[in-house]
This record gives sequence, C-alpha cells and structure tokens, in this order.
Amino acid sequence: MFHARTRSSDEGARRTKQTKESSEKRGRRARSRSREKKIPQACFPALRLSNRPTSDTFSTCKGALFAMATRVDVIIIGAGNRGSTYARFAEECPDQMRVVGVADPNLFARDAFKQKYRIEEQNVFVDWHEAAKREKFAHAAIICTPDHLHKEPALVFAKRGYHILLEKPMSVTPDDCLEIVSACLDSAVLLAVCHVLRYSPAVRKIKELIDSGAIGDVIHIQHLEPVGFYHFAHSFVRGNWRKESQSSFSLLTKSSHDIDLILYWLGNRRCLKVSSFGSLSHFSSDNKPSGATARCLDCPVEQQCPYSAKRIYLDMVRQGCVGWPVSVLCPTSNVDIESVTRALQTGPYGRCVYSCDNDVCTNQVVNMEFEGGLTVAFSMVAFTERLCQRITTISGSKGELSCNNDSVVRVFDFLTQKETVHHVDNAGLLVSSLRAHGGSDYFLIKDFVAAIASGDAALIQSGPKETLASHLLVFAAEQARKENRIVFFEEEWAEKLAQGTMGPNTATPI
Ligand SMILES: NC(=O)c1ccc[n+]([C@@H]2O[C@H](COP(=O)([O-])OP(=O)(O)OC[C@H]3O[C@@H](n4cnc5c(N)ncnc54)[C@H](O)[C@@H]3O)[C@@H](O)[C@H]2O)c1
Repeated sequence: MFHARTRSSDEGARRTKQTKESSEKRGRRARSRSREKKIPQACFPALRLSNRPTSDTFSTCKGALFAMATRVDVIIIGAGNRGSTYARFAEECPDQMRVVGVADPNLFARDAFKQKYRIEEQNVFVDWHEAAKREKFAHAAIICTPDHLHKEPALVFAKRGYHILLEKPMSVTPDDCLEIVSACLDSAVLLAVCHVLRYSPAVRKIKELIDSGAIGDVIHIQHLEPVGFYHFAHSFVRGNWRKESQSSFSLLTKSSHDIDLILYWLGNRRCLKVSSFGSLSHFSSDNKPSGATARCLDCPVEQQCPYSAKRIYLDMVRQGCVGWPVSVLCPTSNVDIESVTRALQTGPYGRCVYSCDNDVCTNQVVNMEFEGGLTVAFSMVAFTERLCQRITTISGSKGELSCNNDSVVRVFDFLTQKETVHHVDNAGLLVSSLRAHGGSDYFLIKDFVAAIASGDAALIQSGPKETLASHLLVFAAEQARKENRIVFFEEEWAEKLAQGTMGPNTATPI
C-alpha cells in the first residue's frame, strides 16, 4: 500500500519508460502480462516554470486545498533525488513556492537547478555552510543531504530563522534528534520531517476509521514493509544506505516511516515494551555463486543471478527508463547507455551483490506492546516482489481493517459480517507529477508550504514531537535487537521522552 517507493522516483521512472514505448508495444504488454501492476497516468503534464503564474497554472493549482495568498521562497540544501522531487512543486505551483537558492557540491546538479528555477548566481552554493553565512534570504530550507549531514544544517538554518523541511531520518543518533527539535522550538520555526506517509490519503483514512471507532478498540496491528528485491540490492547492498557507519541501520533509514505510522494510527497510546530480531541474510560472500566475478559486466554466471546489475540497470535504460534507480548511477551526467555502462564498470552499482561492503539488516521484525495489552508486529524484508507497497491489517474488538494498496481501505464488521470498502480521496494528486510514495511527497510539500504561508502549524503532521517520539522508538527497537533483550521503552527512555515533550511547533504567517 501507499507505494512508499523510498529513495526512489520509481513511479516516475516507470512513467518515463512507459511514455517512450510505442502504444502498440504497451497494448501487447498489457495483454501478455495481466499480473503487472497498474501505473497511474499523469493527468496533467508537468507545468513549465514561468516567472508569473499563467491562468492555466492557477487553475491547476486550484486543486489544492485553498488558494494561497503568499508565495513561500525556499533554498534546497542537497539537490539530489529528494531535493529535486520537492523542488518540482515550485514548477507545478509557482504561485505557492519558489526555489530561490540551492547548495550542492555536485556541479551538474547545481547547474540543473540554477537553470530550471532561474536562481540568481549569488544564491547558488557549493556547500550549505556558504548559504548559511548569508543574510536570511528565503522563508524555508529544505534539507535533503545524506543522512549523516542532516544535523548541522538543520541546527544552523533553524537558528537563522528558516522554517525547516528535513528529510528523514532526522539524524542518526537520539541526541542529535533532540538537539534539532530543541533548536527549532527555541527559534520558533516550523519543523516538518519527511515522514511522507503521514500525508498519504490512505494512511489518513486508516486513522480516521480507527478514531471513528469503525473497528472498536484496536487490539493488534500487523504491518509489513516489503522493500523489493532489486530496490534492496540497489540502495542497501550496493548503494548509499548499505553501511551503518556511513548512513545508519536499516530500521532507521528504511522503516522509520513504518514505526512512525504505527504511532500515528495509535495516537496517544504509550508503547511500553519493544523487542526485535533481524540480520543481514544472503548478501554476503558466503553466498557468492561459484565462478562469479567482482563485477556483473564481466561475470560468466550473471545470467543466472536475479541481482545482476546488467539486467537491473542496462535493461531499464534500453527500455527508456532514465529516472530512479538508473539516475542514481549517473549523478554528474545525463543517463544513457554509455554513462550507465561506465558507472557499472567502475562505480559501486556494478559490483556483485556478494562482494560488497554492506552490513545492514535485510530482514527485521519489531514487536511492541502498548498500554492496555495492545500488540504490534512489524516486519521489514528485502526479498519481496512488492516494492514498498506496505500491507497492513488492524484487528479491533468489533472489526478488522486492511489495506494493501494506495486507494482502498477495507473494514470487515464482526456484527453485520459485511465488508465496507472505503475508496481513498486522491483528488489533490491529480494536479501533480509528484506521485512517488503514492503521492505523499506532493501532499507533504503542499502542506508544509501552506503551513508557512498561513502560520497554521496544524497542517504539519510530522512535526518535532511526533517525529522525535517515533525516532526514539526506532532507536529503542534497534537497541533491543543489538542487546538481544526486551527494552522497557517508557522506563528506559523516560529521560529522552521527557525532553521530547517540549513546546509545540509554532510559526507566524509570512
Ligand atoms: N522521505 C523518504 O521517503 C526518503 C526517500 C529517499 C531518501 N530519503 C532521505 O533523503 C536524503 C537524501 O537522499 P537522496 O536520495 O536525495 O540522496 P542524493 O545522494 O540523491 O542527494 C543528496 C545530495 O546532497 C548533496 N550534498 C552532499 N553534501 C552536501 C553539502 N555539504 N551541502 C549541500 N549538499 C550536499 C549531494 O551532492 C547530493 O546531491 C537522505 O537522508 C535519505 O535517507 C528520504
């Protein structure tokens, strides 16, 4: 469900691929592969950037909750995959958001931003430190640097009075997260962390149904995050999230979303105990096939390997895909067969998955006990066909709720023994091309910008307190796994939890 196509624009990638195929080919493919998942079509083409909104632009943006009176100026710190995603909102709704600055050491990314958003030369920076030295020149900083580079810019820009949109994880230690929260609260700036799924209409529908008593008292939640076999190989075996020392553990980098969702659905229910098991399975030298070489391009047994980089990346490019994941291989050039081949010859993504320096868990379970005996079982697993399409079942005293895609939530009522199918309202999304994460990216950035313009912090669902609470639970779960014991969360984490209940997210309208 919710297509949490994390660290990806894979929906976008698939769309790119799709548009490049002939309609005849598409028809053939649709007939011969009836099990293939449906890919939503863009209802509106992405809008071109113009200095002033056109009437078309304005009517497109009317799909949003309300017409904005004030445009929010943002600086993008880290113009990679996520930074580019959020910036696209400015292209689509230029009356709501404008990108006025960018900081990134990657010249290719910087230049692309400069041209696309017509950023003045003086507001284009090689590093975030330079941007922070300048007088404040925007309302918000959108921080999309790698995981271990979140804390410093978040602290500095908050202290400079910028509202902060911060990619998840907030940071890689509990104390860093607390510091970020304190800095934002002390500076009275808004903080929204990119727990995008909280903004998904399906997730909100689940909360609404729970809160309305549709299934009675919640007794148990079973929630699965199926990461997807090639997604895991891409990001967590060959890619940027493969090593705990370079980013963080996979429960934090991948599944902080899921622990956060569970807390969101359960509202004020307190988690008392947590246990967890997990390990790195399969992707290690012990499982390297006989005859396999260090790189897929010259591997004699590559054709029998489901994780062949040749198949995953080169076949995608041949089929016209230039978005995620292949775009990640070529951060400093355009994507084509030549650039991807070069990357596979020399870069990390051409490595045999059994010869990498990865150490993060491929599969992990987290069990939680909440007050009142409510139990939660969460699983994250790499080896799945589904690509981050979560599966959730919530058992209540009067009914069972289930959701395994973006658009439908089912409730079975024990009294009437009837099922009600709730169709999710994705209407706002029709105006946008930001459809990764089931459209949650669009709803997040739209609400963040609206919160700044209106000063209504309540529009932010992933503010400091709730994000800190779920991050602390993730750290506690990992502690339980590493120490091989039950962690009594409320007792053992009391001090940090107390620090996290400081004042509210606040802002005044711009
Ligand atoms: N919310 C989600 O679901 C989600 C999904 C994917 C990734 N993420 C998170 O988003 C963040 C960014 O991920 P990404 O996939 O965009 O990575 P990326 O590598 O594509 O982008 C990171 C960018 O930061 C830039 N950078 C590095 N040092 C910098 C500095 N000193 N100043 C300015 N820029 C600097 C890099 O050059 C790069 O362009 C990560 O923390 C990641 O975990 C969140």
